[in-house]
Amino acid sequence: MAFGVYVHIPYCIQRCTYCDFATYEQSKILPPDQYVELLFKEIRQKHRYYTPQSLDTLYFGGGTPSLIPAPLIVSIIKELGRYGFTTRPDTEITIEINPATINEDKLKMYLDHGVNRFSVGAQTFDDRLLKMVHREHSAKQTLETLDLLRAHNLNFSFDILFALPSQTVAGLKNDVKIAIEQGAKHISPYCLTVPDGHPLSKGRPLDDEQVEMFDIIADELTAKGFKQYEISNFALPGFESRHNMLYWVDEPYWGLGLSAHSYSLESAWGTRYWNINSINEYQKQILAFDGQEFDSPAKHLPAAQHEVLEMHQALTDFCHTSMRLMRGLSQEKLSKKFPPEISSKVQTLLNGLIKKNWVQYDNEHWSLTRDGLVLSNKVFQELTFLPEDI
Ligand SMILES: C[S@@+](CC[C@H](N)C(=O)[O-])C[C@H]1O[C@@H](n2cnc3c(N)ncnc32)[C@H](O)[C@@H]1O
Ligand code: SF4
Repeated sequence: MAFGVYVHIPYCIQRCTYCDFATYEQSKILPPDQYVELLFKEIRQKHRYYTPQSLDTLYFGGGTPSLIPAPLIVSIIKELGRYGFTTRPDTEITIEINPATINEDKLKMYLDHGVNRFSVGAQTFDDRLLKMVHREHSAKQTLETLDLLRAHNLNFSFDILFALPSQTVAGLKNDVKIAIEQGAKHISPYCLTVPDGHPLSKGRPLDDEQVEMFDIIADELTAKGFKQYEISNFALPGFESRHNMLYWVDEPYWGLGLSAHSYSLESAWGTRYWNINSINEYQKQILAFDGQEFDSPAKHLPAAQHEVLEMHQALTDFCHTSMRLMRGLSQEKLSKKFPPEISSKVQTLLNGLIKKNWVQYDNEHWSLTRDGLVLSNKVFQELTFLPEDI
């Protein structure tokens, strides 16, 4: 069983217009060293939830982890190690970096402490669009950041945003072309998601065009040897994100920091728990338990912040996360995890979706077809279970 840690770093240079993540403009939140102190306290309070073990993955996400001083990132790696959550040479250690937020010194410090994967928020190489969504960097600065990573022969991934207002198919093709030329080993294309009425909801490509845009990305990447392994993720063989895989293959992870979510296997069907997403409330909560240690979320966190899953919830999660992967839902895993009558009920449901051409079966896995990918929300709806369903 693999195990990984996620650390949320909620600092940004600016707030991008579309962003809904728990993150703050750096001047509007406590200084990063004080935030990292809170993380240390949180580690102390929760380390007994898990058996100490070397980590398979460690992921610094945000926000903009590359914005805070690199010694703080290193100090978090060391603090986890002090409690027995050590890293090994083969631990995948990822940090999200925004263009123009790292330099040679920062990079050296990351590398000296085992960081071996860089997720670059490129978004687009079109300066007009970057400006429109209030990104601070230019395409030129993204390319400079990539020069730095390439000079050290590093493994990096790109996030690409598509279906932005006024974005054209030709513009998107150009983004994908540059991303491939720049040597990314992993690309995550995200379709812009904003609520109705949001300033960026106007002038966007229509639904059909959005599907066309995704197809173009998929075709271009596939032609260059990338494989789509998850709904929003493509990688060259061997460069899939091991950390994100934890989320999709029902393995435990420990999330630290503002708004971070965690999953442990301590109860029959698993336990989820999560942190508040207001920094003041998070700080209050951590300070309220300062110096204490707990061995489970149930004995520590308010009811609104943890959930001991029931079978119908575990089944829903299992179906949704498995079907996000292109390899799909494994019959063997389904039958191992759930009682026979439940497993056969799900199999009947999935076989029904084959008739709609949303799902295909290869004698072991059910996976999304091309139509199922486009209509994945409907597939997930069909695979959502209530207590009375099982
Ligand atoms: C948590 S963000 C952090 C990455 C980094 N701070 C950045 O912005 O480059 C991870 C990714 O989520 C994607 N994202 C954020 N808001 C989104 C939205 N409203 N719709 C679609 N994708 C979004 C972006 O592509 C972003 O790179
Ligand atoms: S830099 Fe990234 S995390 Fe920060 S506001 Fe922009 S999209 Fe959100």
